[in-house]
Amino acid sequence: ARPLKVALLGCGVVGSQVARQMLEGGDEFQARVGRRLDLVGISVRNLAKDRPGIDAALLTDDAAELVARKGIDLVIEVMGGVEPARSLILAAMAGGASVITANKQLLAQDGPTLYEAAAEAGVDLYYEAAVAGAIPIIRPLRESLVGDEVTAVKGIVNGTTNFILDKMTTEGSSFDEVLAEAQRLGYAEDDPTADVEGLDAAAKAAILASLAFHSRVNLDDVDCEGITTVTADDVATAAELGYVIKLLARCALAPDNSISVGVHPTLVPANHPLANVSGAFNAVFIESRHAGQLMFMGPGAGGAPTASAVLGDVITAARNRVRGVAGPGESSYSARPVTPRNLV
Ligand code: NDP
Ligand code: HSE
Repeated sequence: ARPLKVALLGCGVVGSQVARQMLEGGDEFQARVGRRLDLVGISVRNLAKDRPGIDAALLTDDAAELVARKGIDLVIEVMGGVEPARSLILAAMAGGASVITANKQLLAQDGPTLYEAAAEAGVDLYYEAAVAGAIPIIRPLRESLVGDEVTAVKGIVNGTTNFILDKMTTEGSSFDEVLAEAQRLGYAEDDPTADVEGLDAAAKAAILASLAFHSRVNLDDVDCEGITTVTADDVATAAELGYVIKLLARCALAPDNSISVGVHPTLVPANHPLANVSGAFNAVFIESRHAGQLMFMGPGAGGAPTASAVLGDVITAARNRVRGVAGPGESSYSARPVTPRNLV
């Protein structure tokens, strides 16, 4: 049987690890899918950049041409940003390719356009890496708990800010020096303002709330405050009082069926499980009517852990393609009112 053709858009912190893990996966991935996965091209901005371990013959700076190549089965989008990522994803789907993306900004701002395009083209759209890095959280909400009634989703969904607050608390480090370290380690977004102002967490909260409550929650619906105003004094005072400051995302379904979604620096009692989520780890709690409480924890940022989530989606989409079936699809969304409010 012919190999499945895979195009990779982006070869930065995440993309370079996706390429490496695909290469390493070789025969083993072939056994898991039933077909060989053939990485046919990688699009980047700057062809002159040094990219150790990446076959230079695969690189192109023409992403549109790569996506339009004949017979592409899967497109992995890890370039980030709304445009040109959205146009490329839509072109890929229209051309018959399934799409795997880690792009929470795009999903939180214009997810429905992507879901509808995928449904129309009869292709898959997977985005496990868009929320909480390596932690399986999209699939549990989209598939495992879809027969339950989720009433709340809350937790730490940004690795950079958790890393900063953690180092400020445990080592007394300054905000600026820890942010620089988070950037060096590949946790922060291209523009780290999105992390420290809470917008990255807000985008993830919008995606989680949309899935959890079968609704359409947009980035603009999220009441958002970041950590730029949190000082070393605040952190020390919180510790004296027996608390830890964490950037928490909270999504709640009220008895009147309205949804509230917010991201705020929050005082967490030092003996609470969330207080001990350290470094760039994330943790997400889900409350549901029948399953009760569930907790997910693990690496929330970084190249290799995020690429693990991407590859999980790649294998799943590849298996679907081999069997000629479509993925989980989306709920037919109800019009639950979204009530942005401060939940602290
Ligand atoms: P990087 O900035 O490290 O990499 C982005 C890549 O995309 C680079 O290879 C860049 O090219 C390429 N690129 C960017 N813009 C364009 C463009 N307009 N045209 C062509 N190529 C472009 O980002 P990350 O790898 O950190 O993140 C990628 C995505 O994954 C983002 O959506 C991010 O939010 C998400 N994500 C990131 C995580 C992380 O821990 N880093 C975790 C979870 C999700 P060049 O190399 O030439 O600059
Ligand atoms: N910048 C993000 C974070 C990457 O720090 O959590 C993972 O989505």
